[in-house]
Amino acid sequence: MSAQRLLVLGTGGTIAGSASSATGQSYAAGDITLEVMVANIAALDLEVELVARPIAQIGSQDIGWPQWSALHAEIAAAQGDADIAGVIITHGTDTAEETAFLLDLTLDAGMPVVMVGAMRPADAVGSDGIRNLLNAIRVASDPRARDRGVMVVMGDTVFAASDVRKAATSNIDAFKGYPRGPIARVTPSSLDWFAPAHRIGSTKRFPWPEALPRVAILTAGAGMDAMPVQALLGIGCKGIVIAGMGQGNAPRVVLDALADAVRAGVPVVRSSRVDEGMVDRNVEVDDDALGFAAARALGPAKARVLLMLLIASGITDAGAVQAAFDGG
Ligand code: SIN
Repeated sequence: MSAQRLLVLGTGGTIAGSASSATGQSYAAGDITLEVMVANIAALDLEVELVARPIAQIGSQDIGWPQWSALHAEIAAAQGDADIAGVIITHGTDTAEETAFLLDLTLDAGMPVVMVGAMRPADAVGSDGIRNLLNAIRVASDPRARDRGVMVVMGDTVFAASDVRKAATSNIDAFKGYPRGPIARVTPSSLDWFAPAHRIGSTKRFPWPEALPRVAILTAGAGMDAMPVQALLGIGCKGIVIAGMGQGNAPRVVLDALADAVRAGVPVVRSSRVDEGMVDRNVEVDDDALGFAAARALGPAKARVLLMLLIASGITDAGAVQAAFDGG
């Protein structure tokens, strides 16, 4: 039997980072080329063939429309290529949840698509990059990984794109899942699936858009006034995600300004600045009266991705936006 062929799309991040010293803290993300990373893996004589395709060599804080479009096009093409068994994306961890969720919403399930990063640069003491990459290869080449949509592999753990988030700035086990936890445990020599796909449907929920609208996340803070909302409208924001206090709350003046935004045709989604938990409708804030949608289980970063896709698809009505956040 010939070796399975996996497409590896490189974007940079700490997994491709190099440190100024093996014991220091400072490093440059995206320094090491994808070709070098793949050659290091090839030297291990695994029974897979890796096809390296660099998309970018940047820290993921700079990822945006050009890289997202390139990733989407490459994966969509791979999905139609019978010679490719799966796709791996090497990516910085800071925005992994955004890219993974965006791709999950806009690609059919089917072929395994696995995003992987690292918390420590490749040449640091205790680097996690090679292990995470080996784990990603194991997941992407496993037939049981099919039909699960986009997954994120970090720290011997596999998460669904809809659940995953970065929950720590520097711990090696920085990723968590909410509302569902990991769907598999993986090591370079084992893979145990113990949960279903956690994905809505097997076909994409949204077409790939022509462009993404400007949608901002506004973090609520005690004592703030309405001017930040007015400023966002002033620069032409087409949607606002409020990262609110607790259950997605904000000072009265801010809620009133956001309700004005809704009346002006700018959809508003309430999420929470708290790390974990649901934001439900009409708990403390009267969403029905003010015209807001509640982000439910999605944190601000993922809520922004979903709102951008909704607006790009012409969906701005509060009821339809809420239905999408409810999973409809
Ligand atoms: C980045 O997101 O590119 C930097 C941080 C990381 O990859 O862990």
